[in-house]
Amino acid sequence: MLVLGIETSCDETAVALYDSERGLLAHRLYSQVEMHAEYGGVVPELAARDHIRKLVPLIRELLDGAQLTLSDIDGVAYTRGPGLAGALLVGASMGQALALGLGVPAIGVHHMEGHLLAPMLENERPTFPFIALLVSGGHTLLADVVGVGEYNILGESLDDAVGEAFDKTAKLLGLAYPGGPSVSKEAEKGQAGRFKFPRPMTDRPGLDFSFSGLKTYTLTTAYEHQDENNQLVDQTRADIAHAFQEAATDTLVIKAKRALKQTGRSELVIAGGVGANRALREKLAALAQRENINVFFPRPEFCTDNGAMIAYVGCLRLLAGESEGIAVAVRPRWKISELEIPGAGLT
Ligand code: KG4
Ligand code: ZN
Repeated sequence: MLVLGIETSCDETAVALYDSERGLLAHRLYSQVEMHAEYGGVVPELAARDHIRKLVPLIRELLDGAQLTLSDIDGVAYTRGPGLAGALLVGASMGQALALGLGVPAIGVHHMEGHLLAPMLENERPTFPFIALLVSGGHTLLADVVGVGEYNILGESLDDAVGEAFDKTAKLLGLAYPGGPSVSKEAEKGQAGRFKFPRPMTDRPGLDFSFSGLKTYTLTTAYEHQDENNQLVDQTRADIAHAFQEAATDTLVIKAKRALKQTGRSELVIAGGVGANRALREKLAALAQRENINVFFPRPEFCTDNGAMIAYVGCLRLLAGESEGIAVAVRPRWKISELEIPGAGLT
């Protein structure tokens, strides 16, 4: 079964072709990041309008590149939620319209399920059950992934997501949008040990996270170290970025290790945009060696939003017999705990 996947939940227009026999055939992505940079964050209305402009040409380019045509498609998957309502509606409308026109089934996919299962797109893939550390701009969670559709949430952020904390830290340090990559770049110039930031909620049991206190700590430190012109000198900015990144990534590693201990699992999967962070990847690789466990990272382009993960999950669920009616319904606040094992809802 050849499935076209469409992702438009936020600021990337992404499409892919996944075949149940041959695997991932092609994927394309257009990032709106430059358009939103001017505003220092994603502007939902602009995002939706840009998806409208880019989606059709991107699907054409995808099919041409794979030397396939629309008539080769056996099913269409699109991101149904969570995400920005207007942006989601563009992908959902296009997905439903294409499916209807081609006479093939359509399926709305949960964006986070896409991230959780993205490591399955790689040659070296984990085996169920495994622990997933999902770290994106909207979510920070640890899940026990028992099988497809069986996600037991072990802990999540009580306030800001870790990606959001990176983005806000970038903003307060005057670094470019998007924040994650620029904090990471700045941190490389930082001096280790000049500042020591707290590792929130690691001194008590449990697997929940909280990043808003760390953000405030970063803000206070930056404020206290301004020069007489209320500016940060370059080295101080880099040192603060370094201390923030160390604290944020240490916190994630401490909790991931705790989740592995608690469940007795021996495989850990990293998903979501912050999974592209080099410091985090290095620390988790060291943890894997120390604790004799396996850590799986999708390639960075499959950590951040992409169409491949949507096509893959859509293919699994379509093969299990699931599909949508023709109504275009998106779920901007869809909870991952509401998902079921593929085909479980069928009678
Ligand atoms: O998964 P994603 O592409 O979008 C969703 O939120 O669903 O994640 C985006 C988040 C942003 O907060 C971005 O700043 C962060 O991932 N990010 C990073 C890095 N690359 C992206 N954070 C830290 N280091 C990075 N290298
Ligand atoms: Zn995402």
